Amino acid sequence: MNRPLVIGNWKMNLDYVEAVHLIQQLGVVLKNKPLEHVDLVVVPPFVDIRSVTSVVESERVALEVGAQHASVHDAGAHTGEVSVSMLQRLNVTWVLVGHSERRAMYAMTDEVVAQTLRTVVRQGLRAVLCVGEELSVREAQNDRDFVTAQLHAALEGLDEKWRPLVTIAYEPVWAIGTGLTASTEQVREMTEHIRTVAASLSLGDVRVLYGGSVNAENAAALVNEGHVDGFLVGGASL
Ligand code: PGA
Repeated sequence: MNRPLVIGNWKMNLDYVEAVHLIQQLGVVLKNKPLEHVDLVVVPPFVDIRSVTSVVESERVALEVGAQHASVHDAGAHTGEVSVSMLQRLNVTWVLVGHSERRAMYAMTDEVVAQTLRTVVRQGLRAVLCVGEELSVREAQNDRDFVTAQLHAALEGLDEKWRPLVTIAYEPVWAIGTGLTASTEQVREMTEHIRTVAASLSLGDVRVLYGGSVNAENAAALVNEGHVDGFLVGGASL
């Protein structure tokens, strides 16, 4: 069993004042909780990161801070982009790579996903590689092949020394923000498949998370029966 990991992806929600409020509340909730066996990460919008890390550091909140995306470039004429080194300066330690919303809405191809993942881990940050199929792909029973191809595109040839920095999140697109959670059986089948493919790419003990309408009610069953190492939570993390 890998050490459990729960990541809250705030997406494009909460301005920096609201973000400070939420992280302070989280700090209160987490005080005196036995957190030594679980890793917690919050992933605010870029503009909130500085404020959130300030609270995390000054109030010693037991979690780490991530970013929702990063540029493949380190600096230069890339209007609107944020580099990994800029994130590192803000004590960001995790980056989501290839979230389905970025793939679908911002033309993030498998190739860019692979480049981004390498850019993140080469600077020593942890990458959460997001994979998952659309509903039509699952209905055509191509979900495993689809996810296999995404994993190969992102991870093939990744230098051995960076592999411990990779986490995989299985997020079926049809379950994200829809209230439709994948069944524990679907999650177990796919996470087992992902572990097999990851092992064939020499990522034997990679953590595999599930994301897609996770909440306080369905989380326990997804861990116990779905055999995941944790969650990437969107809506419920707010
Ligand atoms: P959701 O989002 O929990 O709101 O479905 C999950 C995600 O996109 O990471």
